[in-house]
Amino acid sequence: MSSIRNFSIIAHIDHGKSTLADRLLELTGTIPPRRMQEQVLDSMDLERERGITIKMTPVRMLYQLEAINYQLNLIDTPGHIDFAYEVSRSLKAVEGALLLIDAARGVQAQTLSVLAAAREQNLMIFPVINKIDLISTRRESVRAEIMKLFADPQIEILEVSAKTGQGVSELLTAIARRVPAPVVEYSETNGARALVFDFDYSTHRGLIVYVRIFDGSIKRQDKLTFGVSGEIFTALEVGYFAPARQSTETLAAGEIGYIVTGIKEFNRAKVGETILKANQPALPLIAGYAEPKPMVWASLYPTSQDDFNLLRQALARLRLSDAALSFEEEAVGVLGRGFRVGFLGLLHLEIITERLRREHHLNLVVTTPSISFRLTDDRTGQMETVYAFHLFPDELRGQTVTEPYARAEILTPAEYLSPILTLLQEHEAVIIATDNWGDDRMILKVEMPLRELMRHFFDSLKSASSGFASLSYALIDWRPADVVKLEVLVAEEVVPALARVVPRRRLEIEAEAVVEKLKNLLPRELFVIKIQARVGGRIIASRAISAMKKDVTGYLYGGDITRKRKLWEKQAKGKKRMQARARVNISPEVFLKLVQ
Ligand code: GTP
Repeated sequence: MSSIRNFSIIAHIDHGKSTLADRLLELTGTIPPRRMQEQVLDSMDLERERGITIKMTPVRMLYQLEAINYQLNLIDTPGHIDFAYEVSRSLKAVEGALLLIDAARGVQAQTLSVLAAAREQNLMIFPVINKIDLISTRRESVRAEIMKLFADPQIEILEVSAKTGQGVSELLTAIARRVPAPVVEYSETNGARALVFDFDYSTHRGLIVYVRIFDGSIKRQDKLTFGVSGEIFTALEVGYFAPARQSTETLAAGEIGYIVTGIKEFNRAKVGETILKANQPALPLIAGYAEPKPMVWASLYPTSQDDFNLLRQALARLRLSDAALSFEEEAVGVLGRGFRVGFLGLLHLEIITERLRREHHLNLVVTTPSISFRLTDDRTGQMETVYAFHLFPDELRGQTVTEPYARAEILTPAEYLSPILTLLQEHEAVIIATDNWGDDRMILKVEMPLRELMRHFFDSLKSASSGFASLSYALIDWRPADVVKLEVLVAEEVVPALARVVPRRRLEIEAEAVVEKLKNLLPRELFVIKIQARVGGRIIASRAISAMKKDVTGYLYGGDITRKRKLWEKQAKGKKRMQARARVNISPEVFLKLVQ
């Protein structure tokens, strides 16, 4: 019987996953006390600064219990919904999940969604209440919430303080006893099968794949292949995470570790690939991962066009360890060449752009994030997805527009229900179901356009509930959208990069807002600048920036009015000519302010 135990810690954001991981690493002696620092698995500067986990991190711990030496493989996962894809990937590599719940906050929206994800993988899940050092009046009701969650009044609930370490030793014992040992399907003679759940890249050694070995074993120098792409490579090194990479001779069935492949191209394999021995009879591939779907799109342009190729490389590099990132080249007007990039949410966008700036030293222009729409030809049924709005048709002819819809779950103390209902209405959300949740808390299941969810819904929800409501959401389907393309004209010329697709009901508000903003941002010229917002050939909002006045008679001394008049006439003619040829170059600086 194997003494390997693979598990993940899952929770709503900030319920203490990384802190608990610290205590486990300490208690098992994986990290000596002198090298211990807070949230040690959050190794990225950005993670430490922001106090959030962005990437999952695997680590191997050794633990002795009743004369058995256990190998515990933990994968710490991020809590923010934008990084849910990381969680889903880690869950496929383990047999058990600790569902961590904050003793004061109790079950929150994402507790439900991560639990559902763990159940889907048939994992052994055990609930753990964290932060019991906090004096909270909610402890008993949190226990009741958990019993309700598992529909089991007898369920064993462990209680810990990741901060003080109380209860963590009992938790380790429970992990060793209760997480099922890995099940091996095929014997060594059939070869080996490993699931790629993450990547890293080293300039010298190429792709480094993070794997869970399901069957057989993989040794250094083994000839291996990716089951889907067919690429063959030699394992230059195999090893495990301690948490730094530690090389070893063999990775055996059930273990989690890494393989250095030497492959220098970024795009040779995807997460979810199966690794097999190159010469083995074909074993069935392990079911991979569903492709993550981008929720929001934004354009990224280098401020200096010389950096375009650097940006391309940087994005490709980031995509390696972040399979949820997608991008394609685009060129719109003043900004030159750049990329249209898909993200899983606004925090994802923020983190990626920050990493591009820090880790790749790129200066970027990032446009306002937006969602995508689908256009379906009513006759042929042919469908195209539009996420660059200047390509959206001015007028729809025999086409239907659909937009992504999300199902959101909101968990809130019942006292905030009234402001939340108002908010839901403002954001076109329809309540599908409600439920009471523990003492005085409610769960609202709603469906709403993703467009509205991305319009600062979460921030508004937080302020409407004094920070107590929590939210989780997922895309469900595409539904007809009543939207139109709003074009912006400056000096009678369309500025493609400023085009947007807006719901008809917000058309006036959006049109007024954009022309007003432009009016305040554009510098004056020697001629009048017209700024207009247009929908289907109709101007619906406009502003004008008056011309700069130049005193052409200033140098004349005295009062010869006829000479002055001549000069004024000449100036008026010049102005007319200029007005006729008026062109406004929107500088990147102005543009930047406009699109952000
Ligand atoms: P994400 O990965 O970003 O979702 O966060 P996380 O779940 O890893 O939470 P993290 O470990 O970063 O802890 C969040 C906050 O809770 C930090 O300020 C911790 O210091 C605090 N915290 C964690 N565990 C405890 C605990 O047992 N007691 C108390 N009082 N605070 C805790």
